[in-house]
Amino acid sequence: MSSAASQSNTTISNNESRHSCVVGMGWGDEGKGKIVDLLAREFDVVVRFNGGANAGHTVRIGDESFALHLLPSGVLREKAVSVIGPGVVVDPVALVEEIEGLQSRGIDLTGRLLVSDRAHLVMPYHKLEDRLRDSGTQGQKIGTTAKGIGPCYAEKMLRSSAFRMIDLVHLDRQAERLKAVCERKRSTLMAMGADDASLNDGAIEFEAILSTLKSTQPKLLKFVADTTAWLDDAVSSGRQLLFESANGMLLDIDHGTFPYVTASHTGLNGVSAGAGVSPHLVRRCVGVSKAYATRVGNGPFPSELQDERGDRIREVGREYGTTTGRPRRCGWLDAVSLRQTKLLGGVTEIAMMHMDTLSGMDEVGICTGYRLRGESLRSIPADSEDYAAVEPEFEMLPGWRADISRVTQFEALPAEAQNYIGRVEALVGAPISMVSVGPERNQTIHRI
Ligand code: GDP
Ligand code: IMO
Ligand code: MG
Repeated sequence: MSSAASQSNTTISNNESRHSCVVGMGWGDEGKGKIVDLLAREFDVVVRFNGGANAGHTVRIGDESFALHLLPSGVLREKAVSVIGPGVVVDPVALVEEIEGLQSRGIDLTGRLLVSDRAHLVMPYHKLEDRLRDSGTQGQKIGTTAKGIGPCYAEKMLRSSAFRMIDLVHLDRQAERLKAVCERKRSTLMAMGADDASLNDGAIEFEAILSTLKSTQPKLLKFVADTTAWLDDAVSSGRQLLFESANGMLLDIDHGTFPYVTASHTGLNGVSAGAGVSPHLVRRCVGVSKAYATRVGNGPFPSELQDERGDRIREVGREYGTTTGRPRRCGWLDAVSLRQTKLLGGVTEIAMMHMDTLSGMDEVGICTGYRLRGESLRSIPADSEDYAAVEPEFEMLPGWRADISRVTQFEALPAEAQNYIGRVEALVGAPISMVSVGPERNQTIHRI
């Protein structure tokens, strides 16, 4: 198809399109996996466009639970094709493990997974560098997932020493460059404090890395494609695309709570570049937020509850990391940061998760404002020390006692829960189109 024809097709189908995006409005783990899986039923293609194996997206189907890291959460819908876009950083070993893990559970991705030939590779030395940088001796300790995300994106920006999926395809052409890169990395990592054990465990050994890549190559080859061209054709032929963000808007590299952020664009702002589609494609963007707030890793968290109420939310909501198992820090919903991420994430509607977790509390709080040195702030300050010093202002609302985990209609929720949802909508300025009352697909109240 000529590019002009393809362009006009894009425009025509765009007018009738439902292309949508799901983003996290907080510091990750909002429940994006559940919402993507739920919506994927109505889409032909699900596309991951950012992040890497730092993501942990959980999908519950009956008694079964799936923890997805690199694969889009659409993989559990047989009719949907899953795409890993050029903006994702792919650890080939982790990807093979994930594909084979699903295969062992009877889910075969042959013919319905595409991995961009332009996606960058997370190498073993990126993971070692991640650990060394985040050890507390190299500046601010971010509390990363140690999946090599920051070093891999940094390498991508440096360009000459980076490797992409296409290099895995043409591995024979890359051996010499890989050897040179490994040699340079060895001295850099030694200067960063790497000990002999970590240097010799294969993280920086050219032969070991080459051999690992050689073993993953035949398993991944059939999935590697020019996904940009494929998605263009898919749009032109009227297929509906759903884009799935990893991480959360407060972890966005430019708009999040820097430096305690990840290394990619996590909202609608990341879709065009990270998936390789027109910036005009997506009209609907579902922002996912819990009915409270959580954060895993370091960094300021003004509405954090460091008392028994935070502990209760953690235990009832099972707030432990999908990727690292770390306990998540818990606090009240923060309407100030949600207003900001609604704007920056391009959010047009909200899915509010974990309403069931708040049941049984005498009252529930919403952070409605920040004060810093006596001044009222309209948004998150740029300096993380200022953000840590912010005094949050709370509005307390009456809680509800009933178990709501089987409620399917909004009107059947206790009046206090309805009131809470209405107040969040008013404060954040976006409609709450879905209310989730449990991890399963059918534990969802659809309002629109
Ligand atoms: P993601 O990274 O945004 O996909 O979120 P995670 O999967 O890391 O974390 C969300 C967790 O909450 C998962 O264990 C989900 O199964 C679970 N979950 C999602 N929605 C609900 C809900 O409404 N209620 C409860 N109790 N659990 C939920
Ligand atoms: P999902 O997709 C929660 C956090 C890490 C750390 C910071 C930087 O499951 O919502 P990184 O390894 O990316 O360099 O870590 O970002 N982080 C997440 N927290 N959920 C995630 O993904 C996260 N991805 C990164 O804890 O604070
Ligand atoms: Mg997660």
